[in-house]
Amino acid sequence: MSQTMPSTADLLGNRRRILVTGGAGFIGGAVVRRLLRDSDATVFNLDKMGYASDLTSIQEVLAEQGEADGVRHRLQCVDLKDAEAVDAAVREANPDLVMHLAAESHVDRSISGPGEFISSNITGTYNLLQAVRSHVERLSEARAAAFRLHHISTDEVFGSLGAEGRFSETTPYDPRSPYSASKAASDHLVQAWHHTFGLPVVLTNCSNNYGPWQFPEKLIPVVTLKAAAGEPIPLYGDGLNVRDWLYVEDHVDALLLAACRGQSGRSYCVGGHGEKTNKEVVTTICNQLDQHHPNNAPHAHLITRVIDRPGHDRRYAIDPTRITEELGWQPRHNVEQGLAATVAWYLQHQDWCSKVRDQANYDGGRLGLNRPQ
Ligand code: NAD
Ligand code: DAU
Repeated sequence: MSQTMPSTADLLGNRRRILVTGGAGFIGGAVVRRLLRDSDATVFNLDKMGYASDLTSIQEVLAEQGEADGVRHRLQCVDLKDAEAVDAAVREANPDLVMHLAAESHVDRSISGPGEFISSNITGTYNLLQAVRSHVERLSEARAAAFRLHHISTDEVFGSLGAEGRFSETTPYDPRSPYSASKAASDHLVQAWHHTFGLPVVLTNCSNNYGPWQFPEKLIPVVTLKAAAGEPIPLYGDGLNVRDWLYVEDHVDALLLAACRGQSGRSYCVGGHGEKTNKEVVTTICNQLDQHHPNNAPHAHLITRVIDRPGHDRRYAIDPTRITEELGWQPRHNVEQGLAATVAWYLQHQDWCSKVRDQANYDGGRLGLNRPQ
């Protein structure tokens, strides 16, 4: 932990009951683990337990701590599309803080099947906002004053950059995929509930996350697993699209700072100066595989250019000045170290990857080439 990052318990203060939506997913899981490890708050984990959900990492933390599931970690298996169930879950949680991460998150799946993105990300956020609005009306003055709904969003709402420039909180919205359009709509709903109904909200817009426990459909786990298996590694288009990579634990630091110290109604852009072309990322992973499995080197021979993602955004990059200056956030990992640790983790956890792929009925094949329906 860097010197500037306060402890989780200090950040939470008197907030004892935290509702995390999407806590069975990749980033939400990292938030839940941090809350369980570094505070004694009770965590209500609202998740529909969809294809990308898995609780193994949380169960490991509970086992480390000798905690029985259902005491400090309470799973609420609820789909945000179900307004009544969402309202009941919020009443049960009676939260001091809501961290809203639940969303369909994979751009390629939003191309093959946009409907689930509209209902989960837009209608789901609407249902949560309504339930939380009623909840805040029931709170005492002191609890209401400290309460926040923290909406976790993405840099993709800002569209696509050319070779120059970076996204900041004042960049106009320009989403270009069904996924990013659904996230942009949810951001607007959250801001509207703040301005119209006085709901105390904070928003964050983060760049690409990577790290352990990510469902193996996104670039870094896909490439690592394909390289390890000696299979062709799919590089979309010319491979020169740029993403700004951030280690997931650095994102969790930013989320806790924004949720607990962010100003109501304000948004914060989060990114760690980790710009890389996809080709650079894929080549770095292949070089690392050469060290782990020298018999199959060079793995870069497996890189195969495939037809591009429809509407593929060219470049994302974040200017994190606001969250750095106002809240003291700094990333603790650089991309080279974080990527090396992540690749090693996936190589050691291939059984987990097979398990979650099987549960999701996903064979690791290409997604997102179908015509939208
Ligand atoms: P993920 O797909 O790994 O996990 C999302 C979780 O949300 C899953 O467990 C899923 O079951 C749950 N969920 C989806 N729809 C739901 C619904 N209708 N009701 C209840 N639960 C539902 O995603 P992730 O990568 O952990 O992303 C989490 C959040 O962070 C998302 O809001 C995403 O837009 C945002 N984000 C992701 C990244 C990234 O690089 N992964 C970057 C910036 C922002
Ligand atoms: O920028 C933040 C966003 O990052 C989040 O909001 C999304 O939830 C998250 O999924 C991620 O979106 P991307 O589309 O950038 O991530 P993905 O890992 O799918 O792709 C990263 C880049 O790699 C992108 O340019 C497409 C390319 N790619 C992806 C896959 C899966 C390939 O070249 N080959 C692949 O097999």
